[in-house]
Amino acid sequence: MKARILPDETLRKLAAQHGTPLYVYSAAVIRERVRELGGFDRIRYAQKANAHPEVLRLLRSLGVVVDAVSAGEVRQALAAGYQPSEIVYTADLFDRRALEELRRHPLPVNLGSDFMIEQYAELREKSGGPRDILLRINPGFGHGHARKVNTGGETSKHGIWFEQLRDCVQRAVRCGLRVHGLHLHIGSGTDFDHLVRVCQAMEQLCMVAEEAGAHIEVLSGGGGLPIPYRMGEPRLDLVRYKAAWMETRQRIAQRLGRTITLEVEPGRYLVAESGLLLTEVRGVKQSGSVRYAIVDAGFHNLIRPAMYGAYHQISALGQTERTATRPTVVAGPLCESGDVFTVDTLGHLLPQALPDLTCGDLLCIHDTGAYGASMASTYNAQPLAAEVLVDG
Ligand code: LLP
Repeated sequence: MKARILPDETLRKLAAQHGTPLYVYSAAVIRERVRELGGFDRIRYAQKANAHPEVLRLLRSLGVVVDAVSAGEVRQALAAGYQPSEIVYTADLFDRRALEELRRHPLPVNLGSDFMIEQYAELREKSGGPRDILLRINPGFGHGHARKVNTGGETSKHGIWFEQLRDCVQRAVRCGLRVHGLHLHIGSGTDFDHLVRVCQAMEQLCMVAEEAGAHIEVLSGGGGLPIPYRMGEPRLDLVRYKAAWMETRQRIAQRLGRTITLEVEPGRYLVAESGLLLTEVRGVKQSGSVRYAIVDAGFHNLIRPAMYGAYHQISALGQTERTATRPTVVAGPLCESGDVFTVDTLGHLLPQALPDLTCGDLLCIHDTGAYGASMASTYNAQPLAAEVLVDG
C-alpha cells in the first residue's frame, strides 16, 4: 500500500471540515521534488498540472518559474505573484485572448507553429515588448505514457516540424525577432533510450538553428518526467536524467562557444505525488461477480482513469498492510458506465484490493496532485471539489 502524504487523522479532519470529494496537497512533498531537481539552471513548472493559487505561490517561493499555455493560465500565474518575465507562454496558437494578454504584459513566448512568428512580430511591432523568442520543435518522433499524451512525430499537432526549423529561424530574423532558444517537449513519461534520442536531436537542431541565424542561449528539455503510480515501480533515475541533459548542454555550449541556460519543465513530477483525492463511500453493491464501491467523486473530479486508463492506487482510511481485502471496483456518481476509477488502458474493469467498506468510509485516490483538479469539469452539474494545501 502506498504511504499516505498525511496521517489518517488529519485527512479525516480535513474531510469533516471541507466535505468530500476533496483534493489534499502536501507542501512538504512539493518542496522535496523541487529540491531533487536542483542542478538545472531553471525549473519551469508546467502549471497545467495544477494551478491552485497556493501551489503556484509555494513554487514561486522556491524559485520555480512557470510555463503557461493560455491567457487563463497567464492570469493565474500573475494572480499568484509571478512577474511577466517569469512566465513563458507556450502554445501552438495565439487565440485572441492570449494576444490581448501578451499585449498587456511583456511575457516571453515559446512558439510552436510557423504561423505564430509573423503574428508575434506584428504584435510586438504594435505594442513593444520582448523580441527574443523560443521555438518549440517537433523532432519527428515522440513518446508518452499513452497515445493521447505523445507530443512528437507526425501524429502530434505540437511544435514546429524539424524540417521547417531553418525556414522558421530565417522568417523570425526577417521579422526582427531573435531566436534565442529551442524547446523540445515530446511526451509525458520518459525512458532512457528515448532520452538519448531527444538529446541528440537537440544538439543537431541547435546547429541548424544557429546556421540559419539564431543565437541559442536557452535550451528546454520540456517535462514528461514520470512518477511511480504503481507500487514497486522504480523511481526515475534522476542522476542519469540530469547527466544526459547536462552533457548535452556542455557539448552544445562548447560547439557554440557560449554559456547555455538549461531548463527543465515538469508538471507531474513536481506535484503528482503531493496530492490525493479523498472521497466518501456512499454504498457498496454486488452486480454478478463484481463488487462495486460507489463513491462521491467521479470522472468530473479526476478524468485520468476514464480518459487514459491511468492507474491510481486507492486505499481506505484505516487500512493497513494487514487488513483483509477483497477485489473492489470503485465507481463514481455520474450517469456513465465509464465513471470508474479502477480500469485498465482498454477500459476493462480492474478491481483493487480494498477492505470491506460501508457508507461513510473514506477512500484516498493516490498521486492525483497533477492533472486531477486541473482537468476537472462540472459534468452532470456536479460541483468542483475543494482543494487544500497542507503546509506543516
Ligand atoms: N511542457 C509542455 C509544453 C507540455 O505540454 C507539458 C504537458 C509539460 C511540459 C509537462 O508534462 P509533464 O511533466 O506533466 O508530463 N493530462 C495528461 C498529461 C498531459 C500533458 C500535457 N503537456 C495526464 O494526465 O497524464
